[in-house]
Amino acid sequence: MVTGWHRDTWIEVDLACIRTNIKNEQKILPKTTDIWAVVKANAYGHGMLEVAKAAKEAGAKGFCVAILDEALALRAAGFSEEPILVLGAVRAKDASLAAEKRISVTLFDPSWLEQVTETDVPLRLHLKIDTGMGRLGVRSQEEIKQAAEKIAADPRFELEGVFTHFATADQKDTAYYDTQLQRFREGVACLPKKPAYIHVANSATSLLHDQADFNVVRFGVSMYGMSPSDEIKDILPFELKPALSLKTRMVQVKELHPGDHVSYGATYEAKANEWVATLPIGYADGIIRHYSGFSFLVDGQKVPIVGRVCMDQLIVRLPREYPVGTVVTLIGQSAEQAILADEIARHLDTINYEVTCLLSDRVPRIYKENNHF
Ligand SMILES: Cc1ncc(COP(=O)(O)O)c(C=O)c1O
Repeated sequence: MVTGWHRDTWIEVDLACIRTNIKNEQKILPKTTDIWAVVKANAYGHGMLEVAKAAKEAGAKGFCVAILDEALALRAAGFSEEPILVLGAVRAKDASLAAEKRISVTLFDPSWLEQVTETDVPLRLHLKIDTGMGRLGVRSQEEIKQAAEKIAADPRFELEGVFTHFATADQKDTAYYDTQLQRFREGVACLPKKPAYIHVANSATSLLHDQADFNVVRFGVSMYGMSPSDEIKDILPFELKPALSLKTRMVQVKELHPGDHVSYGATYEAKANEWVATLPIGYADGIIRHYSGFSFLVDGQKVPIVGRVCMDQLIVRLPREYPVGTVVTLIGQSAEQAILADEIARHLDTINYEVTCLLSDRVPRIYKENNHF
């Protein structure tokens, strides 16, 4: 995708926030538990390589991605030593490529092993146990034993890890979580030999539950400074620092008169004389049409979107005339006010993860440290 370096719309990512979140996380973990930074999906929209670099500097010991290509991109960018785990499915025909690059793969079905044809070096596998998420993973103790036996009997494979993923770790009620954890412990007990890495935690789990029995956490959303859910915001062990801001500049400012309409469908009609600004950002950038009715910030004041969001532009109503070029904050701090991804998520009836992941590669990412470029 072409990135819009010649358009005044940009994302600022404060890498100091990412480092602080990692350091604070490390403080609450046992000394023997490592952080693996989850940088899939372009680091939840923040930019994979820059985040990976900052995470490594702050003490992250490995990375998790969703697809093999993301792992390959990390290796190609010089992350040559760190463990990288692909959390999603890897095709059996790509096993040798993963093995050659020392990329660890999630094993969720023992029959997958039979489909692997060649590997010159042993492929590192993390056995995923589906303890109740119902997504990837082996479910029965038989399957766990079968997978372990097949791996032990075949020099092309090495069982490097075993893990699970919780469905409700971001809720206060721990009943389902407790059941999943118990199933995981029983599953791990079936393995004749414990692998090097035993891990269960995403952000929510690592923030709320003791990790003494596990030596890796897969730290995603909270590394970026976002709460895993609204529900657990008030019980988080430290303050999260949101790293991402999204800004643009007004490209045209005009006065509407009563009866004037705005945008496709002419759905918005001015009731009085009012000032509006056209912003060079739209749904192709990730500001989807459901943002309609939401307000952004100019000098800490709310400016509501009027009319429909277009592919590349949208229109906001201003409290007064502003000069063309005035900055509008869509996510982040503006004077004394801030818009968090959480607030947008509530408006869109989604989660903060989706808000930042939706920001497309057309928007350039600019990196800063402690609010300085
Ligand atoms: C298997 C797995 N582990 C860890 C994570 C990271 O989760 P979070 O971003 O909530 O920390 C994810 C994210 O979706 C995941 O799928």
